[in-house]
Parts: sequence; C-alpha cells; structure tokens
Amino acid sequence: MQIRLDKFLADAGMGTRSEVKNIIKRKAVTINGVCVEKPEIKVNPDTDEVAVNGKVTAPRGNVTYLLHKPAGYVCAVEDSRFPTVMELVPRGRNLFPVGRLDKDTEGLLLITNDGAMAHRMLSPRSHVDKTYLAVLDGPAKSGYAVDFSEGVDIGDETPTLPAKLVICDMAHPSLAYLPEEYRTGLRPGQAVLLTIQEGRYHQVKRMFHAVGREVIYLKRLSFGPLSLPLSLKKGEAVLCDIENCRE
Ligand code: URA
Repeated sequence: MQIRLDKFLADAGMGTRSEVKNIIKRKAVTINGVCVEKPEIKVNPDTDEVAVNGKVTAPRGNVTYLLHKPAGYVCAVEDSRFPTVMELVPRGRNLFPVGRLDKDTEGLLLITNDGAMAHRMLSPRSHVDKTYLAVLDGPAKSGYAVDFSEGVDIGDETPTLPAKLVICDMAHPSLAYLPEEYRTGLRPGQAVLLTIQEGRYHQVKRMFHAVGREVIYLKRLSFGPLSLPLSLKKGEAVLCDIENCRE
C-alpha cells in the first residue's frame, strides 16, 4: 500500500500535516536516499526508507522497544532539566514510556506508541508483576518476607498488595545484573528480589523504608512476561514483540 509522504511523516510523529509539508519544502526529506520536495509523492511504508535530516523514520504501526534504562534519565517525553529516556530510542512515531522508573533506577523500561498495551500493563486492575533487584543499606531480615506478603503501610490510604521477597544468597544468578561497584563488597542478605503487583510512587524504596532499611541501588529485571536480557547493555534498546510474549 502506498501513502502520501506528508501523511507518512505525520503518522510517524514528525509533526502536523502542515508542519511536515514545511519540512519537505526545506529539502530535509529523502526517500531511499533521494531528496524529495513534494508532499503528495507516494511512499510504500514497508519498502521505502524515508529519512528526515538524514535520520531514518521507522515504519508505521505499533512499535515497542525494551530499553535497558541507565540511571540519570527521566521517564518523560520531555524534560527541561534532565535527559529523557526518549533520547535512547529512534525518534518520532509518538512514542512514550510505559510507566515510570525513578531517575536513579535502572532496568527494564518499555517505550511504545501502543496505548492499549500500555494501559493493560499499567492498569491497577491488571496486577502485572514487576520484579526489582535491590541492594539495601544492610542485611534484609527474613521477617520482611512475611511483612511484604501481608502488605505494608507506606503512608498511602491502603497498605501495599501482597509482594514476594527473595533474599539472594551470594551465588544467586540475579547478582550478575549488579554493576561491579555493588557486587564488590556485597554482604550476605544485602541483595534482594522484590516482586510487586502495583506501581505506586517510589514503591520499592518506600516498602523497605517502612521496615527500617534504605535502598541504595535499584534495577527492574522484569515487567509482566518480559525480562531484561543480561546481554542488553545500559542505554541499549531492542524491538520487542510483547503480544507474542507469554508468561
Ligand atoms: N520503586 C521505586 O522505589 N522506584 C522505582 O523506580 C520503581 C519502583
């Protein structure tokens, strides 16, 4: 199927129809490497490579990236103070982050233009599991697992939903996700895996604070059916087919 170039670019999130017409007039757009000046020219989204200022725009349709979020980036489409996670995926196409990780939290973050999928993953009614690897400021007590399984008061109207805590032994495979500076000198009981079903503000940090510990490092390892590939480096993103992922 062929569509007009201005519609292709507008659908790809490059601006309104009149904005993209101006971009085309400024000779900023190429199709398969050839500069074009006519907004009405037809492109095939499946086979033509359309670039704006030399950057290839991705084809239409829903797209989801699985990003290994590094610390220092905020989960927002725009921010006046800090770099955003959007800088780590190809631009355009109306992409947005699926939920939020704190600026200092690392790990699995989805970036998509699929509103329905994002809603399913984030809806409080969906109870989608999220597993975090945390390093604490001291050893976890075995009693925390009971506290978290019963729900804890973190100062909200209702206690947290039941969550599952695993205290990692020193040979636990998840420790491979820790940056060198946290793996070196790690003491028994300091690294834990916490699986929560909600996504409240600073939830993991507040749950540990409620039982008398502080989180000094936090990384999300899984979100619903998706896990962070160990080989995916911080700041790297891969396209992900979430519809065909099943737990
Ligand atoms: N819980 C937190 O405290 N921070 C995050 O970034 C995610 C979950």
